Amino acid sequence: MELRGKGALVTGGARRLGRAFVLALAEAGMDVLVHYGHAAREAERTVQEARRYGVRAFALQADLTRAEEIAPLMDRTTELLGTPPRVLVNSAAVFKAGTLRDTTLDNWVEHMRLNLRAPFLLMQAFARALGSQTPGKIVNIADWRALYPGRKYVAYTVSKAGLLTLTLIAARELAPHIQVNALALGAVLPPPGEDEAYLQRLVQHIPARRAARVEEVTDALLFLLRNDYITGETLLVDGGAHLGT
Ligand SMILES: NC(=O)c1ccc[n+]([C@@H]2O[C@H](COP(=O)([O-])OP(=O)(O)OC[C@H]3O[C@@H](n4cnc5c(N)ncnc54)[C@H](OP(=O)(O)O)[C@@H]3O)[C@@H](O)[C@H]2O)c1
Repeated sequence: MELRGKGALVTGGARRLGRAFVLALAEAGMDVLVHYGHAAREAERTVQEARRYGVRAFALQADLTRAEEIAPLMDRTTELLGTPPRVLVNSAAVFKAGTLRDTTLDNWVEHMRLNLRAPFLLMQAFARALGSQTPGKIVNIADWRALYPGRKYVAYTVSKAGLLTLTLIAARELAPHIQVNALALGAVLPPPGEDEAYLQRLVQHIPARRAARVEEVTDALLFLLRNDYITGETLLVDGGAHLGT
């Protein structure tokens, strides 16, 4: 699909990786909807940065843990663009620790609502908005840990594994005009509150021996969006972490 001139909705697009997705799409000529939860100021800054590429850019707030805020987010996106977005990037997520024994119900529910239910409802809304013929692309941002689970992030891992399964189901159901794929990322940015040293410790034994550069992740996103023959695919962008040490 030619991206230039079409619209994209990126959830959690105000800062960190979401912001990088927004700017990569803007650089590719897409009009961008920067969804944010709390980061209003960062969202506005990202909108201004996106506009430097000569595209239209808008910020929209929604609490994605609230199911009732999701259809209005897609409706407002369509209103602002004047036409439904042709690309949906589900990037907003929560990432909190918890083993099987100590994961609280609140921790579990938050992960399921934000990391799994919100992308599910957004994919439904996106598919409805595009109808049965208009071409579109969905990319769900997941994690290599969804395929190779560890012990420490149970709810997060299960939510992302659900997202990968949903990617497969949606790819079948929304074909042939909508392709649905996922990126399973390894370490890219340290989680909020952690520093580069934390990240370096995390990756010292993986084959790549380093975290991903942000451009390596955005390149993978653009690759999936530009290809019309890949659907139901999970692309691991993890420096070989899944291979073990
Ligand atoms: N960072 C990494 O190295 C890494 C590794 C593997 C996978 N990933 C995946 O890549 C994606 C982006 O990662 P990231 O590190 O950039 O993510 P992040 O900073 O942890 O969070 C992304 C965004 O989610 C939004 N969000 C949180 N709660 C929300 C809510 N209730 N309603 C609406 N939005 C909410 C936040 O928006 P506001 O700031 O506006 O509140 C935040 O900017 C995620 O799906 C993550 O799981 C990241």
